[in-house]
Amino acid sequence: ASIDEAQATAWLAGPPGAPLRAHASHKGSYGDVAVIGGAPGMAGAALLAASAALHAGAGRVYAALLDPAAITVDPSQPELMLRAWETLDISTMHVACGCGGGDAVRAVLPKVLAASGSLVLDADALNAISSDTHLQNLLRSRGRRGKPTVLTPHPLEAARLLGCKTADIQSDRLRRARELCESYESVVVLKGSGTVVAAPGTLPSVNPTGNGRLATAGTGDVLAGMIAARLALGDAPADAARGAVFRHGLAADDWPASEALTASALARRQAGG
Ligand code: APR
Ligand code: MG
Repeated sequence: ASIDEAQATAWLAGPPGAPLRAHASHKGSYGDVAVIGGAPGMAGAALLAASAALHAGAGRVYAALLDPAAITVDPSQPELMLRAWETLDISTMHVACGCGGGDAVRAVLPKVLAASGSLVLDADALNAISSDTHLQNLLRSRGRRGKPTVLTPHPLEAARLLGCKTADIQSDRLRRARELCESYESVVVLKGSGTVVAAPGTLPSVNPTGNGRLATAGTGDVLAGMIAARLALGDAPADAARGAVFRHGLAADDWPASEALTASALARRQAGG
């Protein structure tokens, strides 16, 4: 199935990136996003996801960086609240990205997976789940308890989750996305040219936007933050995934020809901004 025009029009309604703010609203009306990640050497991944969530219109964005030596304020985005992981409100939306391959991600994931809010899991969080059956069971039980999770693997991360080769993913992307969705009881965003979104109970869809300019480090983290913001704003998980993927690709399609696409600029601009 492909994205239909009515759906694409709905995603494009309203201003680029952020939703219109009703006059009688306040920041609490637009949801919270909490980003977990930023292992040593990967702080940028969490900060990019947080920036994308801010620019996509989330009401408040928190980030917990796993690197003990990490900054406590980001001067380039002071509205972002950097907190110790232990003090984050577990009921807020979570995004795990840039977690690194170390022990820290294994320590936080059981708590993250127990969170009552919707979750977006990316990159090293997915890799940790691939090699740990306890974490896999926690993920499946979230799905069974109706706690939505969105997984955002690139083809290699998807191969690890399914225990196969990257070539097996790429030769049958629709089927593999669906297998991941069924196996982990989650919404799956299988990234790459022609990103596939598979959600329980629906046919997988192929996103029509995006191009090779997105092949630069950090654009995946930006996508994770954009999905999290849509979840915080109240989108159903499949809509949050499909809408964010569509806008993320559209921003790349609309990018000025004379400018390099970088992840931090993408987080700020998003579609049409
Ligand atoms: N066409 C369309 N979309 C693309 C294309 C393309 N040719 N290339 C990349 N993209 C999109 C993907 O669909 C995805 O949304 O860009 C994003 C890239 O996300 P990731 O693959 O997660 O890359 P990212 O994490 O940002 O950076 C690469 O990931 O696995 C690690 O170690 C690896 O440092 C590397 C980092
Ligand atoms: Mg990535």
